[in-house]
Amino acid sequence: MARIQRRKVTVIGAGNVGATTAQRIAESGLADVVLVDIVEGLPQGKGLDLAEAAPVVGHDGRITGTNSYDETSGSDVIVVTSGIARKPGMSRDDLISTNAGIVRGVVSEAAKRSPDAILVVVTNPLDAMCHVAIKASGFPKSRVIGMAGTLDSARFRHFIALETGVSVEDVRAFVVGGHGDTMVPLPRYSAVGGIPLPEMLSAERIAALVQRTRSGGAEIVELLKTGSAFYAPAAATFEVVESILLDRRRLIPCAALLEGEYGVQGLFVGVPVVVGAGGIERIIEVKFTPEEQAAFTKSADAVKELLALI
Ligand code: APR
Repeated sequence: MARIQRRKVTVIGAGNVGATTAQRIAESGLADVVLVDIVEGLPQGKGLDLAEAAPVVGHDGRITGTNSYDETSGSDVIVVTSGIARKPGMSRDDLISTNAGIVRGVVSEAAKRSPDAILVVVTNPLDAMCHVAIKASGFPKSRVIGMAGTLDSARFRHFIALETGVSVEDVRAFVVGGHGDTMVPLPRYSAVGGIPLPEMLSAERIAALVQRTRSGGAEIVELLKTGSAFYAPAAATFEVVESILLDRRRLIPCAALLEGEYGVQGLFVGVPVVVGAGGIERIIEVKFTPEEQAAFTKSADAVKELLALI
């Protein structure tokens, strides 16, 4: 009897973000998961722990923990979370030299064993790491996606829901630009139950929520002290992976390689994209106001400056 070919997702980095993402994917039942880490025993231990949760959760997905890349062969999606995380006082940009080397190494190992996979990059500084990943993999731009906008938008949505006293489910929000202090939350494209945000809240309150969104990652780093956020990053990563595996064609903000869109050439920056089975199926170009365009260009320039450090 012919067996159904199960989908396979490799998650590189079995730390906070990687292990939580692996848990979400495994529990969704959408794919088998291979968890890879450089630390001996860590992915094996977390993989076994996740597999032992499966009888209670009720899924039959296989979860493999490993220090080698051979088990990752033939993956449909490769999620890259390996690298160091922020500590209080650090910006995402401070991670660049260490994480560039790590991302380069893991992507070249994984990409050659899964040449048709879609890469979802999570390691920070996100936009710069997408450049490292596309170079190390040789993949076309449609198959290299940076997960950041979905996370920044989730944070913005949470703050809007708190402020308006409306269910998070009815709050839509859009954050574009680089995944750093210059990110560009777009109130005009954010809405509560379809009502544009500027009609729901005063300009002053919106400005406060925008600022809290921009420093959303740092707020958590300051509280945790030993590392950075991982529940929301893992949930936002799963949103991207699910849209690929189910070809949902979600319209979400992700870092994509721009070649002229929004007046930007050759840079990964967060923009609205349609994510489906082929990865980035389409980049959506919305019309910015002159202020929005200026903020977006400034954010893209920050990505460019950072790239010069690699
Ligand atoms: N190969 C495989 N795994 C590696 C490598 C490598 N070369 N180098 C480091 N790792 C692993 C670490 O052993 C660790 O288990 O990456 C994991 C990172 O986990 P955490 O330290 O818990 O960091 P986490 O919070 O998961 O963040 C990872 O995602 O959101 C970003 O800014 C964050 O860049 C950071 C990344």
